[in-house]
Amino acid sequence: MDLNKRFPQKRIIITGAGSGLGKALALEFAKMKWNVVIAEINDSRAQETADEIKALGAKAIVSHCDVTKSADLEKTVETAKKELGGVDIMINNAGVSAGGYMEKISLEDWEWILNINLKSVIYGCRAVIPLLKKQKSGYVINVASSAGLVCLPEMCSYNMTKAGVIAISDTLRTELSPLGIGVSVACPTFIKTNLMDEFRSPDARQRKLAEGFFSKSILSVEIVAKHIIKSASRNKMHIISQIDGKYLWWSKRHFPWLYFKISAYIYKKGYIYKYLGVNSDEV
Ligand SMILES: NC(=O)c1ccc[n+]([C@@H]2O[C@H](COP(=O)([O-])OP(=O)(O)OC[C@H]3O[C@@H](n4cnc5c(N)ncnc54)[C@H](O)[C@@H]3O)[C@@H](O)[C@H]2O)c1
Repeated sequence: MDLNKRFPQKRIIITGAGSGLGKALALEFAKMKWNVVIAEINDSRAQETADEIKALGAKAIVSHCDVTKSADLEKTVETAKKELGGVDIMINNAGVSAGGYMEKISLEDWEWILNINLKSVIYGCRAVIPLLKKQKSGYVINVASSAGLVCLPEMCSYNMTKAGVIAISDTLRTELSPLGIGVSVACPTFIKTNLMDEFRSPDARQRKLAEGFFSKSILSVEIVAKHIIKSASRNKMHIISQIDGKYLWWSKRHFPWLYFKISAYIYKKGYIYKYLGVNSDEV
């Protein structure tokens, strides 16, 4: 059902709404006159989003929030309850990206990405679900990535966090459905945002690979945001906006043996590096 009809009070929390996909989602909801709580660690970016939301005639509330801190997410939900009387949609979006070989990624960087990308979703869900259950209504959208479904090489830590977000979302979808609470998980492929700002990798070539993929991305972040909203209105489970993501996921599900054989061949031959113009010997 259309989200505006399903949730006439139009109250939403979006983590990481100061930039990229979170910001694009916030502005799309603001255009539909939703009241947006911006849960963001970067205060100046959060304020910029808030100003743009207000210019669209919607209400914006900034909640300084570090998603690696459970207490910050609890505080954000409390703020929404106090200021808006409840929460209709929670989007756990904030995240960072990384590349690298499994054994070369430092333990510190494993912890870093685990905390920001995966534990944050646990904290966000734990903070909001009791309220949604009490309301007997609501919707959770977790932002994962196609990386969590198809697991491309040299992205082990990022893939792991996003696969975890998908597992959480799939579990909650069944668990919360008897209560009328919806759950979807967004799985985009590369979109041009500020995601590379915080990118970490032990080798330079993984940064070049990621930059190459970003430069080839076709859909804008606004189109992806609109697609996510439309898909949630249709109660879609896995929201895959781009054609490459749809194709890879379809191939892996239906022909897993062939999928891995072809992936390994392409990887061994270095075709991805050639396609992106990256020197495969570089470390
Ligand atoms: N851009 C892509 O290609 C792509 C593809 C698939 C999935 N995603 C996912 O989309 C989500 C949004 O990423 P984006 O591409 O818009 O990146 P972005 O860097 O433009 O935006 C991420 C936002 O999260 C915020 N953030 C980072 N750490 C935080 C923390 N500890 N607490 C609170 N906020 C924090 C940042 O300040 C920033 O505003 C991420 O989860 C990312 O993994 C992005």
